[in-house]
Amino acid sequence: MSDGFELVRVRNGAWGIRSLAYDEVCHPGVGPRAEAEALYVRGLDLPRRFGAHAVSGDSRDEFVVWDIGLGGGANAAAVIDAAAASGPGLRVVSFDRSVGQLEFALRHDAELACLGALAGPAARLIEDGEVLFQHGNAAVRWTRVLGDFTVLVALQEPPPWPAPHAILFDPHSPIANPEMWTLPLFQALHGRLDPNRPCGLATYSRSTAIRASLLLAGFVVGAGGSTGAKEETTLAANRLEWVGRPLDARWLERARRSRAAEPWTTPPFGGRPLSDATWECLRNQPQFRITPG
Ligand SMILES: C[S@@+](CC[C@H](N)C(=O)[O-])C[C@H]1O[C@@H](n2cnc3c(N)ncnc32)[C@H](O)[C@@H]1O
Repeated sequence: MSDGFELVRVRNGAWGIRSLAYDEVCHPGVGPRAEAEALYVRGLDLPRRFGAHAVSGDSRDEFVVWDIGLGGGANAAAVIDAAAASGPGLRVVSFDRSVGQLEFALRHDAELACLGALAGPAARLIEDGEVLFQHGNAAVRWTRVLGDFTVLVALQEPPPWPAPHAILFDPHSPIANPEMWTLPLFQALHGRLDPNRPCGLATYSRSTAIRASLLLAGFVVGAGGSTGAKEETTLAANRLEWVGRPLDARWLERARRSRAAEPWTTPPFGGRPLSDATWECLRNQPQFRITPG
């Protein structure tokens, strides 16, 4: 144990990191690397999207990933490794309150097996705030942004980071970290997208209230794949075609019956059925008008 984190064995026997402050293990099912690859790299179809981006013409046009919850860097590292083969210019913007978990992960990479060849760039990221390096065919620019993401995402002025093509949405769980799962946060996040830039968001939660929040914020929302431990996750996007399995009328009916589907706005957060106003908004979302139920 050190500095607020400890190494633990997760369910499949791999090593993971427990945050003592949140009393929660990150990637508790299959460990950080396997979950990062299943949920974010394959879930967002990144190898194919990187390949398509690399041949799309303008080499100055970076593929931009927002890594929300840098933590121990497992998700960012898996994405950077995935770009090495196809080699678009890759910009990763990692958000967190602190680099404490990344420092811990660097000291324990022998057990965690996440950073590997990216340990050097990760150490420079901690020190300098930004690191530029070549990783296989990919020219990578990795930036860290320290602060409260709920504040950063809602600032009035345009952010200095480009709009994302992909979002790795990985805070702690809604119970432990509720301020990161509110409707206002998802509305602010959607407001940061460039409508002309297709963007996909993957997250491990499949909660009805979280999916309802993403829908009300303006995302198209669908079921994401399994991570090995979780049967289903969530994939959202600003394009219907980016979501393989959009939520449909059956999901909408289940949400209507649920006792905990109302999006969270202000504390106390918790389970409430949909209000009439939310139900009206939800059932009028474009994806339910065109998805057969
Ligand atoms: C599950 S861990 C992330 C694991 C990480 N993605 C990885 O691959 O190792 C969640 C992270 O979200 C960060 N976090 C939680 N609330 C936050 C907030 N309001 N602003 C910024 N970061 C936050 C925590 O500090 C923590 O590092």
